[in-house]
Amino acid sequence: MSSGRTVVVGITGGIAAYKAVNIVRAFVLRGDSVHVVATPAALRFVGRPTLEAISRNPVHTDLYEGVAEVRHVAIGQSADLIVVAPATANTIAKLACGLADDLLGNTILASTAPLVIAPAMHTEMWNNAATRANVATLRERGVVVVGPGTGRLTGADSGAGRMEEPDTIVAAALAALAVADRGGAAGDLAGKRIVISAGGTREPLDPVRFLGNRSSGKQGVALAEAAVARGAEVVLVAANLEVPAPTNVDVRLAGSAADLERAMTEAAAEADVIIMAAAVADYRPAEVRADKIKKDDTGDTLVLTLVRNPDILAGLAAARKPGQVVIGFAAETEADPELLLQLGREKAARKGCDYLVLNMVGWTEGFASERNEVRVLNRHGDIVIEASGSKMSVAESILDLLS
Ligand code: C5P
Repeated sequence: MSSGRTVVVGITGGIAAYKAVNIVRAFVLRGDSVHVVATPAALRFVGRPTLEAISRNPVHTDLYEGVAEVRHVAIGQSADLIVVAPATANTIAKLACGLADDLLGNTILASTAPLVIAPAMHTEMWNNAATRANVATLRERGVVVVGPGTGRLTGADSGAGRMEEPDTIVAAALAALAVADRGGAAGDLAGKRIVISAGGTREPLDPVRFLGNRSSGKQGVALAEAAVARGAEVVLVAANLEVPAPTNVDVRLAGSAADLERAMTEAAAEADVIIMAAAVADYRPAEVRADKIKKDDTGDTLVLTLVRNPDILAGLAAARKPGQVVIGFAAETEADPELLLQLGREKAARKGCDYLVLNMVGWTEGFASERNEVRVLNRHGDIVIEASGSKMSVAESILDLLS
């Protein structure tokens, strides 16, 4: 998916408006040009300076400002994507009726861009027959409705009506944009079943401790989101993710390497493509204590015996069905690009996968970062792609190999 699009973020008057700042930020970080159209009520919940600083653009609210430039239609005409978050029951009702009594209503009516709304309201309002009918009308017109989720609401109550998390809304919006870019056609990965592991395994030592790694799961989740946007059916084997899993994938949780091996082996049976983006522990404690290890029992030093975990990627590659594509990752701390490449070539040969995504990791690079820089090797060790940028754009480049 290309970045640098024009995105309108409509913000309406609900307490979840404070979370819309993160949505604006996510699009800006992607390199999009972001224009916030807030209702006056929204600005009671979140300040104009915050939205202007984060969006890097003026925030528009008033229908009668910028009349000379015909702003009431110009913003909507220039949009590639419109996201309304939070969308209150009132805004949803107005959208369903096609009302244009404020700048946001005009912007939406004047636009042909995909429209994604994230409802946020109390459970009773969400369940109200009027709201249900309005949401059904919008869905019929092709509006993408994300959420709402169920959980803690603003007051003491809990239930349906909580706005979806910003990451989930952005992912759904990008998927809608990808579909629109294809003219509504099926994506290039339609009909493909892709199994992706993401995150980092935790190998238990005792009931409260584990040996783990710093993988956040961001690259694997970006691959899952990008694959879904391109029409694939995705199973995400999630090992201790630090970011939310996309809502439109089949998520299977795995804690340790043993869990991950079981989940991957089961899912691989049906897969056209397997991507092992998870950082899997090479070793696990030989013994998992039934009770917490106590300082008093161990003294000043504690020696742990570790045993090798199976190489899941090598196992999946060796057992692959005809036509199944297997992609592995190699995260290395080697700073010299030539030596890094050499390590990657040796690993590609050893693992037997079709492609190996090679990236540098360190205290600051790789794992927790929003960006990535990779070289992809084929099984002969030739570089077939070099990609750098956001983890989403790197994901797109990796998936290009499949189409
Ligand atoms: O050998 P190394 O850990 O560098 O290999 C990384 C690749 O192998 C990743 O794709 C990772 O998911 C996979 N791996 C695995 N099982 C292990 C260790 C790594 O599948 N025990």
